[in-house]
Amino acid sequence: MARLVTGDELEEDTFETSIRPISIDEYIGQSELKENLNIFMKAAKMRGEALDHVLLYGPPGLGKTTMAYIIANEMGTNIKTTSGPAIEKSGDLAAVLSTLEPGDVLFIDEIHRIPRFIEEILYSAMEDFKLDIIVGSDSSSRNITIDLPPFTLVGATTRAGDLTGPLRDRFGIVSRLNFYTEDELKDIVLRTSRVLKSPINEDAAYELAKRSRGTPRIANRLFKRVRDFALVMGNGNIDLDITKTALDKLKVDAFGLDATDYNLLNSIIEKFNGGPVGIDALASSIGEEASTIEDVYEPYLLQNGFLKRTSRGRMVTEKAYEYLKKGKQDSLF
Ligand SMILES: Nc1ncnc2c1ncn2[C@@H]1O[C@H](COP(=O)(O)OP(=O)(O)OP(=O)(O)O)[C@@H](O)[C@H]1O
Ligand SMILES: [Mg+2]
Repeated sequence: MARLVTGDELEEDTFETSIRPISIDEYIGQSELKENLNIFMKAAKMRGEALDHVLLYGPPGLGKTTMAYIIANEMGTNIKTTSGPAIEKSGDLAAVLSTLEPGDVLFIDEIHRIPRFIEEILYSAMEDFKLDIIVGSDSSSRNITIDLPPFTLVGATTRAGDLTGPLRDRFGIVSRLNFYTEDELKDIVLRTSRVLKSPINEDAAYELAKRSRGTPRIANRLFKRVRDFALVMGNGNIDLDITKTALDKLKVDAFGLDATDYNLLNSIIEKFNGGPVGIDALASSIGEEASTIEDVYEPYLLQNGFLKRTSRGRMVTEKAYEYLKKGKQDSLF
């Protein structure tokens, strides 16, 4: 079974588009980003220009794609979407660029995965709104330059460190999305409950929020599961009791940690004496990709002080030792 508390998108998240906030006022949290964007968008509109290019980065499920759609909606323009892995040849990028109309938003997801040799096409497109391409085959090839309308590139990435300097420098607005607070997540759960017309008690929403690893996508996913429990085991009403029972059955602990987190932390303690351990050794010891650990598992563990990164590798913290001991007593896993 797929891991429930991953911020990564799972197949079951197809309902996401229906619960996505559409306007910036409905977007909960990330107040600094919202305040800045509101000003930049207003200024761009007053000048009759396209909004500056925006780079959004941060762990999966925090609302990057959602924000890209909101920007287009607030600017009253269309959004065209593609992703780093979908752009294999320079022609792929030229094809999307040539469909842009003035002011449009071009959303490139996983922008760090655009091949380096194609990135250069993006430089002049972003800077001068010009598309430089080579047409024709070997003997008769020549460079042509096509004017593009002013547009806004919104790039999203979970790995800002993988972007090249020149690409990052071409974004006027660069913003890191942060994990959400419990109160913000509670509001997101309450909003989802209204949209899906499945009422939830306030204390139950808060319990869900606490176990959602600071991530709206996880909060919404857990909400859906708990709603099923409430329907089958109760009377459909989502109260605190049913929420706790459901989350315990789903093996999501009071901190939102699951068996994979326990495995990761225990593995450092038992096999590497608490660390430091290099990411590759750790990855093979728990049978995961190093990049998955870095992008998906560890940001939350780092943020909450269960894990530390040192120059010599990852170490578990005193907090983790204490917490795991307690976890063992509770014998959740
Ligand atoms: N600020 C928010 N307010 C309300 N709901 C949100 C917010 N941010 C995200 N969500 C919800 O969480 C879900 C996941 O968000 P989104 O797809 O935008 O994440 P992402 O950062 O693009 O993830 P990935 O890195 O996997 O692409 C959305 O369907 C949306 O319903
Ligand atoms: Mg996304």
